[in-house]
Parts: sequence; C-alpha cells; structure tokens
Amino acid sequence: MQPRLIEFSQLGDPTTGFMTVAANSALPFCIQRVYWTYSVAEDVIRGHHAHRELEQIIFAVAGTIEFTLESVYGQQTIYHLNRPGLGLYIPRHYWRTIKFSPDAVLMCLASLEYTEEEYIRDYDEFKRLASK
Ligand code: TYD
Repeated sequence: MQPRLIEFSQLGDPTTGFMTVAANSALPFCIQRVYWTYSVAEDVIRGHHAHRELEQIIFAVAGTIEFTLESVYGQQTIYHLNRPGLGLYIPRHYWRTIKFSPDAVLMCLASLEYTEEEYIRDYDEFKRLASK
C-alpha cells in the first residue's frame, strides 16, 4: 500500500454551505478512532514518528496542513492539504512531519484505537524496517 490523496465528494452549494461524508463502506479500513489537532503554532513541527500497523486518513478540516511522508527506503513526498474534502491516506510504516497554518484543524480517521506501543518514535528503528 502507498500513501495517496483521496478526493471526497462535497455536498451542498455556496448559498447554504457544504458537507463531506466519510463512511466505512467507502474507506480502505474500518474507522476505530477519530481525533483532531488544533491551535498549533506556525513554528511547531509535529509528528516525528511512524506506526507499526495503523492506517489513517488525514484531513485539514480548516486551514492548511503540510504533511511530509518518508518511506522506509528514504523516499520523501510532501502533501498539501488545503481544503476540507481532501484526505491523505497513510498506510503503516511512513515517518511523518506535520506543519500547520495557525487556523488549521487536523482531523484523523484511524484504523485502530490508541496504544503507545503502536508508535515507532525512534528514527533509527524506523529505518531498520527497510532490511526486514
Ligand atoms: P501524537 O500522535 O504523537 O501527535 P502528533 O503526531 O500530532 O505529533 O500524539 C501526541 C500525544 O497525544 C502523545 O503523547 C500520545 C497522545 N495521544 C493519545 O493519548 N491518544 C490518541 O488517540 C492520540 C492520537 C495521541
């Protein structure tokens, strides 16, 4: 599995506003958890970790978010989330760093409930996955 951008459809019109829906039947995994992150100052870089098994879809439901993903083989890709209907699918084993605009709200749909053991926070341990 590779990371990819997913365009979710937008319901509504400019007069009354818009809505975007994420249902399990249309996702690559079943949602077990939703979290959102906000009030992140512009000079802060979050992330600095990968996941052992977790899959996620990330949205900038407000503001803009720059998401850098690195594969275990060192390939880096930068994704710009700049509208609420654009999701970034992230499979397991991608190191990420995340920058927020001051008004940004990140919403994550996740395939597993939270456990700290599921994180890889040591970059050298992450890079060792390449030889497994
Ligand atoms: P983390 O995922 O490291 O944040 P980011 O990727 O945005 O830098 O999470 C920050 C802290 O919050 C960390 O101590 C773990 C905790 N946390 C939970 O307790 N439950 C959760 O569902 C999440 C996502 C994080």
